[in-house]
Amino acid sequence: MPDRVLITADDLEQAVRVNAALERAGFDTAMVSSLDDVRSAVRGREQGAGSREPDAIVLTGGLHESTAQRLLTAAREHAVSTLGLVEATDEDPTEIGRELGLTAWLVKPVDPGEVAATVRRLLERRRLQQRTGILGESAAIQEVLVKIEQMAPVTSTVLIEGESGTGKELVAKAIHDLSPRRGKAFITVNCAALPETLLESELFGHEKGSFTGAAERRLGRFELANGGTIFLDEVGEMPPATQVKLLRVLEDRSFFRVGGAQAIQVDVRVIAATNKSLKEAVALGTFRDDLFYRLNVLSIYLPPLRERRSDIPLLVRTFIAEFAKMHDRAFKGITPEALQIIVDADWPGNVRQLKNLIESMVVLAPEGEIRSRDIPPDIREGTRGLPVRIESAKAVAGQELEFIFRTLVELKMQLEELRRRIEERPAERVEVIEVGSREQGAGSRMIEVSSDPLAPSPESLAPVIYKPGMTMSEVERAAIDAALRETRGNRRKAAETLGIGERTLYRKLKEYAID
Ligand SMILES: Nc1ncnc2c1ncn2[C@@H]1O[C@H](COP(=O)(O)OP(=O)(O)O)[C@@H](O)[C@H]1O
Ligand SMILES: [Mg+2]
Repeated sequence: MPDRVLITADDLEQAVRVNAALERAGFDTAMVSSLDDVRSAVRGREQGAGSREPDAIVLTGGLHESTAQRLLTAAREHAVSTLGLVEATDEDPTEIGRELGLTAWLVKPVDPGEVAATVRRLLERRRLQQRTGILGESAAIQEVLVKIEQMAPVTSTVLIEGESGTGKELVAKAIHDLSPRRGKAFITVNCAALPETLLESELFGHEKGSFTGAAERRLGRFELANGGTIFLDEVGEMPPATQVKLLRVLEDRSFFRVGGAQAIQVDVRVIAATNKSLKEAVALGTFRDDLFYRLNVLSIYLPPLRERRSDIPLLVRTFIAEFAKMHDRAFKGITPEALQIIVDADWPGNVRQLKNLIESMVVLAPEGEIRSRDIPPDIREGTRGLPVRIESAKAVAGQELEFIFRTLVELKMQLEELRRRIEERPAERVEVIEVGSREQGAGSRMIEVSSDPLAPSPESLAPVIYKPGMTMSEVERAAIDAALRETRGNRRKAAETLGIGERTLYRKLKEYAID
């Protein structure tokens, strides 16, 4: 079935020429006079705009009217591509395109043949999205898709950067699936999940008897990925010694199994991902710069969801439909108010967090529809509690900005202090975890001994300071009491234990009338 393209008749002369060119190019076209008619067509409520939901819409004019805005919102939510023809008198077409949320735009006068070629490209992109499951009509996601198309056919290493949950693994898989390697393995290794020795054996394999517990030879992930793609997740967490070995693999595609003497040659494409800036890690000296350059041959950045909020309604609707089907629930959808709360929320866990929340709401919402009150308070309040919205930051007076900046700096210092204290604490609890029993010979368990610096020590657990119903100052008072008891009344030591200055302690003793 040919793709269906609707053309708005706002600029009639253009519309006629574009219509003819699209027909010649083999599309099923229809000209529509009112933008609202197109909107109902997009929403599947047909009114004289032909019989099928469109795949793309060409807007020939009237882009600044409110009807166009409404149409574009509906199109985005239904993943219908839009191409806007921008007036030559408009100042910045790129700005307009982004503001309106058009998928693409061309400046008038346009060559009808170019319009047809652009529509074809947009529809190819749309098919690519259907194939890879990467949703989003925002410019950011469209740029990512262009890159995926360009990067898939080659074997160069790719580095994907972005916060957790922004879709790094999804993109890596898409590159593999569109590449000539698609018939071969796609293997994921999380570099942050394992300590150095285990990570090396995981990546490169080991020979029998190479270390305690290595009862059999075991193939590493690089060997298993031969001919295919290896996805190194959280590569920024890789220990330095392993970084050296990875560099060697990237340089000549060869490595040694742990305890092995023979170099092994593989044909593997490497895609690495990181949720922190590798450039910063290089500056801090925790990541090798030569390895960074080797990994960063091609790069993709996935912006956080809060920076592409226009994609949220589409994600929400798609996830609702998916989970309603999966859990076999008749589900109406979401109220406009609830959707607005979700669009405005902060989403520190990005698409993953949004997707998980939608799943739980589809399962739990009592009325078969998500309403504002079904949204958990932390999501709802997270939006209202935000002191500055990025968009309005410009409007904040200089003084307030300075105050915010100072508060942020203070917060950062407190965080660093907290981290330092956690790191300085001696390992107190020893925990035995069994790992790696999966693909190894019987009885070859490796035991890893790890100490968890955050785990409370038995002593620090002893005096329970908080009891339900206590206020913060009561908790504080109890903590001071406990510290004084522990240090037998030594105020300097007590202040140290509590991590506050001696003068602060004196002030608090006075405040709470402790003597
Ligand atoms: N653009 C997107 N469209 C649809 N689903 C997405 C998108 N980005 C992320 N997801 C989904 O969100 C979840 C987290 O994505 P993932 O690729 O694991 O993120 P990351 O590797 O960056 O932590 C997955 O379920 C993934 O399918
Ligand atoms: Mg991930």
